Amino acid sequence: MHIMRRRGWELPEHMATPEHLFFDRRAFLQAAGLMAATLSPAAAMAQRIADLPDPTSDLYPAKRNEKFKLDRPITDEAINTNYNNFYEFGSSKSIARAAQALRLRPWTIKIEGMVEKPQEVGIDDLIRKMPLEERLYRHRCVEAWGMAIPWTGFPLAKLVDLAKPTSSAKYVRMETFLDKNMAFGQRAPYYPWPYVEGVTMAEAMNDLAFVVTGAYGKPVSKSQGAPLRLALPWKYGFKSIKSITRVIFTDQRPKTFWETLQSSEYGFWANVNPQVPHPRWSQATEEVIGTGQRRPTLLFNGYGEFVADLYKDLKGERLWA
Ligand code: MTE
Repeated sequence: MHIMRRRGWELPEHMATPEHLFFDRRAFLQAAGLMAATLSPAAAMAQRIADLPDPTSDLYPAKRNEKFKLDRPITDEAINTNYNNFYEFGSSKSIARAAQALRLRPWTIKIEGMVEKPQEVGIDDLIRKMPLEERLYRHRCVEAWGMAIPWTGFPLAKLVDLAKPTSSAKYVRMETFLDKNMAFGQRAPYYPWPYVEGVTMAEAMNDLAFVVTGAYGKPVSKSQGAPLRLALPWKYGFKSIKSITRVIFTDQRPKTFWETLQSSEYGFWANVNPQVPHPRWSQATEEVIGTGQRRPTLLFNGYGEFVADLYKDLKGERLWA
């Protein structure tokens, strides 16, 4: 697997963690590494068997939507599913094995807040209600690396249609599951669990905003955020929340997970911009994972034609990470 130098996505402890938790955190990270390492291949396999068969696997592969074109090869699946950020299962990139602890069924999504009819929908019912398609998307992490992925899913706008928000709703807030018995990373008290992300209604209705249920022609893997995650390819990857269980329509701008931890570095909008460096590193280029090469970063990750208009009247806002 490709190994890269740490770029500082993990916050320096003195900035993110109250001083008295500093040493506990080190102990936690060690314990976390140990736990990941002790999930034996047999246990991981047993977990995988318990998850089979996926009740929606007959829906894959879905027809590709040719509107979304790539300018680079698709990242190898083995690389993509073994180089992940999923802090619920550890703060390294190698969480794939630990993420096998994720139990995918039963899985319900609560749709609530400013909606005509709050509802709770089972993942399989939801997926079968939706028109699945495949889209080839670039993915750009704020750590200055990128991948290209064949996601399967449906437009976020379709979920909005299902929810029927009232006219007061201005934002869509999304949350990941909260279960510290299942995800040992959630035992770390200095992270503001559950993982929270959010978009405006206009962003949610944009053609590019995509709810992911699959990748590489089959149900999406656990390390990539099964069974339901977001893909917002014009924004830094931390906006693309994994393993969603709650969708809340609200008039309050959501305070997101990374914004709560470090608002000076990870803002609400987090659109990709090569000219605006992260406070601790440049965003001018990105490493194409799996190739060892770097290429210039593109404004809005190359998706300006779809999304630039969303931001033209927001000149006073900090639109970048
Ligand atoms: N969602 C949750 N729940 N937890 C996380 O730690 N990491 C984010 C995002 N969504 C994260 C998350 C970050 S920083 C990135 S870059 C992408 O997921 C990584 O997605 P990938 O593993 O499919 O590349």
